[in-house]
Amino acid sequence: MEPGEQGLGGFFEAIRHAVNCDTKNVVGATNLCHIASVPSKVEKCVYTQGLDSLGKDALHVASATASALEARFQARVDADDKIEPKDWMPDAYRHTLIRQISQHAHSEIVGMLPEGNWITRAPSLRRKAVLIAKVQDEGGHGMYLYSAAETLGISRDQMTAQLLAGTAKYSSIFNYPTPTWADVGAIGWLVDGAAIMNQIPICRCSYGPYARAMVRICREESFHQRQGFEIMMTLARGTPEQKRMAQDALNRWWWPSLMMFGPSDAESKHTAQSMRWKIKRFSNDELRQHFVDVTVPQAEFLGLKVPDPALRWDEASQHYEFGAIDWSEFNNVLKGNGPCNRERLDARRRAWDEGQWVREAAVAHAEKQKQRAARAA
Ligand SMILES: [Fe+2]
Ligand SMILES: [Fe+2]
Repeated sequence: MEPGEQGLGGFFEAIRHAVNCDTKNVVGATNLCHIASVPSKVEKCVYTQGLDSLGKDALHVASATASALEARFQARVDADDKIEPKDWMPDAYRHTLIRQISQHAHSEIVGMLPEGNWITRAPSLRRKAVLIAKVQDEGGHGMYLYSAAETLGISRDQMTAQLLAGTAKYSSIFNYPTPTWADVGAIGWLVDGAAIMNQIPICRCSYGPYARAMVRICREESFHQRQGFEIMMTLARGTPEQKRMAQDALNRWWWPSLMMFGPSDAESKHTAQSMRWKIKRFSNDELRQHFVDVTVPQAEFLGLKVPDPALRWDEASQHYEFGAIDWSEFNNVLKGNGPCNRERLDARRRAWDEGQWVREAAVAHAEKQKQRAARAA
């Protein structure tokens, strides 16, 4: 039986084993949240990673009609074949992936900022070391994902330019502030927890480079989720003041975490097509429901209260029912009016400017190496 046929619970169980046992691919679903469309112009001449030479597919392709190509492509997707960079693919598939992967990469990079804010103020050496490792992982995730997107014909510079110009989206959750140490715990527990739900299914996305990048990323995300939960547990079992900090952080991050799964299925523009292409395996609402079902018992274990008066267990459906999400807040943050949108982009722009000398030094070093190699030859 395919994991996708087992229902969400069995599916995630199967995946936990797959990821832990170091096996290959796991199943695909939605991207990081609210990914709106980025006007990414794909310049066919900008292929990287050796893609400027056309693959053997191109020779077959010349004589075939567009619809025959589409049919063959879809048949490969239906057969769970991986689509690789040199394979023929519909333009819309390419654009969808560029949009999704680049926004996912931006989210990893911008996502370093709210927690990076606490590295210098972590409460102990151990906490500091763990947090540095976690934030560094997120930087690595961004690098894998930028590389995966480059295989589709967009350059890293183009993606960075879109981010810094404010035309590319990233996950809105990172536009919220982290006023206390408990926010670091809540981010690991809830934000990385929601990211895992979203991302594990992408390990079996139809596009090979994206799927392979996600396998490694998901392993690291599960460490992130556990370190966050451990911080929350320490606080929840600490002094009344520490417990209050943990509760306040849960209150701040609960609803934005539910929004990470993106608009409801009725509103989600891209879902049906992405499902057909096997970029996505589960709908936003299915994944959100699964997150609530898994996370509410964890909050109870911590002795914390989920800030939702409408939350109740429904015996008939065997799921938690939860209150309505404030989509006006979601849309407002998405439009750039969240508490930290401006601060996050300013930080990225500053980092880019301050890194100019490093890029120049790297280019100069590469040139020197080349000259040395030429002299030695
Ligand atoms: Fe990550
Ligand atoms: Fe993470």
